[in-house]
Amino acid sequence: MNKVISFEHAQAQRSDEAIEDKVRSLIQQMTLAEKIGQMRQVDATCDRISDSLAEDVRTGSIGSVINQTDPELCNELQRIATQESRLGIPLLIARDVIHGFGTIMPIPLGQAATWNPDLVQQAASIAAQEAASCGVNWTFSPMIDISRDARWGRIAESLGEDPYLTATLGVAMTRGYQGDDLAQADSIAACAKHFVGYGASESGRDYNTTNIPTNELRNVYLPPFKAVLDAGAQSIMASFSDIDGVPASANGFLMRDILRDEWRFDGIAISDWNSISQLAVHGLTADDRESALQAVRAGLDIEMAGDAYDDHLKDLVMEGKVSIELVETMVANILRTKVRLGLFEDPFTNTNSFPSIGSPQALDVAKSAAIESVVMLKNDNNALPLAIESLQSIAVIGPMADAPYEQLGTWIFDADTSLSVTPLQAIKQVAPSDVTVHFARAMASTRSKSTELFSEAVAATKASDVALVFLGEESILSGEAHSRADIGLPGNQTDLVKALKETGKPVVAVILAGRPLTLGDVIEHCDAVFFAWHLGTMAGPAIADLLFGAASPSGKLPVSFPKMVGQIPIYYNHKNSGRPPSPDTVIHIDEIEVGTPQTSLGMTAFHLDAGYEPQFPFGFGLSYTEFKYDDLRLSKEIIGPDDTLTVSVQISNVGKNAGSEVAQLYIRDLVGSVTRPVRELKRFSKFRLEAGETRTIEFPLSVEDLCFWRRDGSYGFEPGRFSLWVGGSSMGDLKAEFAVTEQ
Ligand code: NOJ
Repeated sequence: MNKVISFEHAQAQRSDEAIEDKVRSLIQQMTLAEKIGQMRQVDATCDRISDSLAEDVRTGSIGSVINQTDPELCNELQRIATQESRLGIPLLIARDVIHGFGTIMPIPLGQAATWNPDLVQQAASIAAQEAASCGVNWTFSPMIDISRDARWGRIAESLGEDPYLTATLGVAMTRGYQGDDLAQADSIAACAKHFVGYGASESGRDYNTTNIPTNELRNVYLPPFKAVLDAGAQSIMASFSDIDGVPASANGFLMRDILRDEWRFDGIAISDWNSISQLAVHGLTADDRESALQAVRAGLDIEMAGDAYDDHLKDLVMEGKVSIELVETMVANILRTKVRLGLFEDPFTNTNSFPSIGSPQALDVAKSAAIESVVMLKNDNNALPLAIESLQSIAVIGPMADAPYEQLGTWIFDADTSLSVTPLQAIKQVAPSDVTVHFARAMASTRSKSTELFSEAVAATKASDVALVFLGEESILSGEAHSRADIGLPGNQTDLVKALKETGKPVVAVILAGRPLTLGDVIEHCDAVFFAWHLGTMAGPAIADLLFGAASPSGKLPVSFPKMVGQIPIYYNHKNSGRPPSPDTVIHIDEIEVGTPQTSLGMTAFHLDAGYEPQFPFGFGLSYTEFKYDDLRLSKEIIGPDDTLTVSVQISNVGKNAGSEVAQLYIRDLVGSVTRPVRELKRFSKFRLEAGETRTIEFPLSVEDLCFWRRDGSYGFEPGRFSLWVGGSSMGDLKAEFAVTEQ
C-alpha cells in the first residue's frame, strides 16, 4: 500500500551543518569566475577530451558536464577537476538515464502500468548502478509531468495522468536512483522534471504553450514534484514551456516562490537544454543578456548547454544587476549536492567493482518489469493463455515481432541493443521442437502502406493454429519532439489485422507503442489484445511468458485510452460539469433524424460521434482470472481532523488461475469551494491471489488525504460528504459514503 504526499509547508530540513560548513568554506575561497563556472553545464559528447574542455575544467569555468559516459573519460575529467583545478571541486556528470542505461526497462509509461512501486524502484536502482559504473553521477529522471494527451510524444516518458500514481512511482524511482545513501558508489542524483506543466502543451505539440489555471496547477501538476522533492530528489529541471505567459526558465513564481520559499528546496534547479537563451525566442527577452538576468533572478542555478550565464553573468554582477549573495546562494545549492554525493571523497568510478551491464539480476528485473507492464485489453473466450502443448504451429506476424531496437522505446542512448530478446526469438525458444513457428514480417515498418507482403502473412496464418501479430509504433514515433496528431496504428496495420482475421484463425495482437493509441477496429478484429508499450530489453521473454501462461497479465492503464483523437484531453479525474452526460442522454450522430429540433437532444457534455467515455478507462486491465470485490466497510461513517478511517474490502479470485490484482481506492468530495474531480485515486495495493483465494485489504485514510487547494488559495480539507469506491479500475462501482466534520 502506498501513501506519499504530505503537504505540510515546512519541509524537513535536509541540510546538515558539516555540509554547510564545507560549502561555505569553498564559497569563501572562490573567485566570481569560479562561482559562475559552477553554474555552467556543457555538452561533453566526445571520443577524446579536447584541450579546450580540459582547460575549462582546469580553470574551474565548468561545474558540470552532460553526455559523457565513457568511464575512462569521466575519470579523466574528474582527475583534472579535482587534481588540477585550484580548489579541486569535482564535476557533476549528467546523463538522461530515463528507463534503464545499458539494460533497458519498459518506458516509464509502461512501468507506470505495473502499479508496483517496489519494482519501479528496483528498475531505477539497476539503471543507477549501470550508469554509475560508467562515471555518471546525475540522471535527469524521473519525469513526472502529468500527461493527459496521448498526442504528446513525451507521454512515453511520463507516469501517466494521475497525480497520486505519478507521485508514488516518481518517489519510487527517486529512491531507486539515490539509494539509502547518496554517497554510495552506485547512487546517482535524481532530477524531477519538467517544472512544471510541460504535459499540458497545447494540442500535444511538443514545446508548445501551456494554459494551466492556478488551482489546477496546485491540485494536479505540482503535487508529484512536492512528493519527489520531499523524498530527497537532489534537483529539479525547468520546463521548456511557457506557463501563463512566463516560460518556466524565467518563472520566479515557480522557481522561487513555490520551490524555495514554500517548499524550502535546497538542491539544484537546472534549466533545460539551452532554454535560457530560448527566452528570447519565446519573445520574453530581447537578448541573451536579459535572458541570463531573468533566469538568474528566477532562480535557475545551472544553465544546461547554453552560453547566456557564461557570457553575461559576470557583467550583470559587476553592474549590480545581480547580487553576489544571490550567486552564492545558487552556487551553494550546487556544491551541497556535490558534497552529498560524496564526490569530494571519491569522484571516480571503478567499473570493475560493479556488476557488468546486463547482469543476470538486471535482466531479471527488466523481465519482471516488462511482464507487469503489459496490459491485457481483451481476451474473448479465453483465447489466452495459449496451451502450447496443444498447438502444432504458430504464425508470428508483424513489423514489431523481431525488431530488437524498436522494442526498446525512446531516448535510450546507452542501450546495449545486443541484449534485446525479441518476441520472435523468445517464442522460438519457448516452443517445443514439434511446434512450427512461421514468421512473416508482413510490413517493412509500422508505417508501411504497402499490402504486398500481406499474402505471405495470410498464408502463414492459414498454416497455423493461431496468429500472433506484433504491431505498434517504432521507437522514433514517440518521445521528445515526436508528437502525432493522429494516434491510430500507423500505416496499413489495421488492414493487416483484418486480412488475418478473414482466415478464420484466432488472432492475438500485441501492440508495442510509446503512447495510448486509438485502436478502434483492431480491438474488434482480434480475439485477444496485449498493450505492451515499448517493453525494453526483455520484451520477448516477458511477452512469451504471458502468451503461454507462465505469467498472468497484471498491468493496469496509467492513462485513459481515447476512442478517437478528438476526445483528447480525456482523463478519469475530470470535473463533473453542470450537465454531466449519462447513457440516457447520449445519442449517436447516425441516430439523429434530419430536421430534429435543436433542444431535443441530450443537452449534456458528450460528443455526437464518440459519446463521453474512453475506449479503456484509467486503471483498467484484464488478467487470466477474475476478481470479485465484496464487503466494503468503513470503520467510521463520520471522521474529524484527527481521525483515521480504515476502509476494508474483500477481494476473491473467483477464476481458475492464480493472478495479481491492483485494488484501487477512489474518492469524490461532493461539495467543494472549488469544483472537485468526479473521482480521485487515493490508495492502491497490488497483490497475488491463488485461484479460490480471498483476501481482505485495508486502506487507512485520513483527513490529510482529502486536502486540496481551496478557492481562497489555502490548502486544507473541507467538511462535508464524500463518496468512496474500491475496485479493479476507475470504473469500479462498489461504493460507500462518509462525512468529514470540522472538529
Ligand atoms: C531536453 C529534455 O527536455 C530534457 O528532458 C533532457 O533531460 C535534456 N534535453 C537533456 O538531454
